[in-house]
Amino acid sequence: YYGPVFNPETLTSYKALPSCLFSVGPSGNIDWIVDDVAEHMLQETLAQKGCIDVNVTTLKTGEFFVPGFIDTHTHASQFPNLGSGQQYELPDWLNHVTFPTESKFSDLDFARRTYESVVRRVIDGGTTTCCYYATLHLEATKILVDIVQANGKSQRAFVGKCNMNRESPDYYRECSVEASVTDTKQLITYIRSLHAATNSNSSYPLVQPILTPRFAISCTPELLTSLGELAVQDPALHIQTHISENKSEIAYTKTLFPQAPHYAGVYDSFGLLRSNTVLAHAVHLEAPEIELIAQRGAGISHCPTSNFNLSSGVAPIGVYLDRGIKVGLGTDVSGGFSPSILNCVQNASIASKIVAMQCQHKNNVEKPQFAGRQLSVATLFYLATLGGAQVCDMDKQVGSFAPGKSFDALLVNLRNDAGNPGIWSLESDADVRGTGVLDGLLERFLFCGDDRNISRVYVQGRFVGGKSFRA
Ligand code: GUN
Ligand code: FE
Repeated sequence: YYGPVFNPETLTSYKALPSCLFSVGPSGNIDWIVDDVAEHMLQETLAQKGCIDVNVTTLKTGEFFVPGFIDTHTHASQFPNLGSGQQYELPDWLNHVTFPTESKFSDLDFARRTYESVVRRVIDGGTTTCCYYATLHLEATKILVDIVQANGKSQRAFVGKCNMNRESPDYYRECSVEASVTDTKQLITYIRSLHAATNSNSSYPLVQPILTPRFAISCTPELLTSLGELAVQDPALHIQTHISENKSEIAYTKTLFPQAPHYAGVYDSFGLLRSNTVLAHAVHLEAPEIELIAQRGAGISHCPTSNFNLSSGVAPIGVYLDRGIKVGLGTDVSGGFSPSILNCVQNASIASKIVAMQCQHKNNVEKPQFAGRQLSVATLFYLATLGGAQVCDMDKQVGSFAPGKSFDALLVNLRNDAGNPGIWSLESDADVRGTGVLDGLLERFLFCGDDRNISRVYVQGRFVGGKSFRA
């Protein structure tokens, strides 16, 4: 491949490479990258790399590559609810909107139809790695796994079956700890056996299981004890849950777990807070909780669209970044009304500006690096890619472009032919070449782009989606 590339580096920097040449091997991993190759040096550089008679995909003016987006928190089972129920806050929203819809996944035809459409939309929206919650149903969750996996040719994902045995209606609740744990073990075995059975090129499984205690309120201490035991026996098993999203949720959690020092302490006391735990929301964490999460090395999924939409609050992401906590972005469909990480980036920016405007220490020169400031384009780009990969404990494998990493990527098209009237496109070489203008393209894409601008989506080197995949 030859063309412009944006590659995240740190929370505050990325590389904008106008003329990058790189090669992806048959395994789907990146073999090598040369940052800057002038057009007249292309053949010579290829020859030096031992590439003779190869087909080079060369990007057009107005096109570039970015790493695929990572959605660290979404509910595949809530897509039918997109755009409904925004009048509620979390507790009423769960009871009136969410639980009724999730209960329908006992119908496996409904599950298959819904999940097929969900996975297609998520891929085409540019998400190459996704942390999915399904429902409490084992069989329907296996269907989601099959669709994501598509014989090792589709998306990279974590798929979890919700554990929830209390505080939801009778029609949508697991009836016993044993049933919840048995079904969870079966799902884990099912997902891992799929990887063993496919001739996947990658030594990394494309789909992995993830333990999914829905949130503390929906799990009895007995269930959390059993899930904690499962986690101890299986240190590689990832864990996802919700934390400190809504003030009344937090207060109720404290009444259910009076012994715990705080919300994070509930998960910690059952062994569920560790370096491969993904904590969604984290809007109202107390200082000791932030410290505990940092010490355990758990990651936070920032879900700003949902936090606005359900009036949950504004998460102080800068504080977490200053403390060195891993942070990624989550769409949290359907608390969030968009399945797009681009939309999440935009709302993460606005959320950080609200925090910055409210910050009382505006002119304090000793202000920390991130707290109380708006997030820069570099930080937003990082959260959507490498930050998400860290939260998923997969930053050695995905999240940026480097030799040996998987080629999970988006070919972005900001030209007029993408058909997005929200982007003022630049199509002549004179307009686009030169690093300064290239930088501007990333910001335009992040703030004004949508799936019309995502021309091709690659996972593990395979072309799996995007606008030109649909055409
Ligand atoms: N807390 C428990 N369940 C849910 C859910 O489905 N969505 C959100 N946003 N928060 C939750
Ligand atoms: Fe959620």
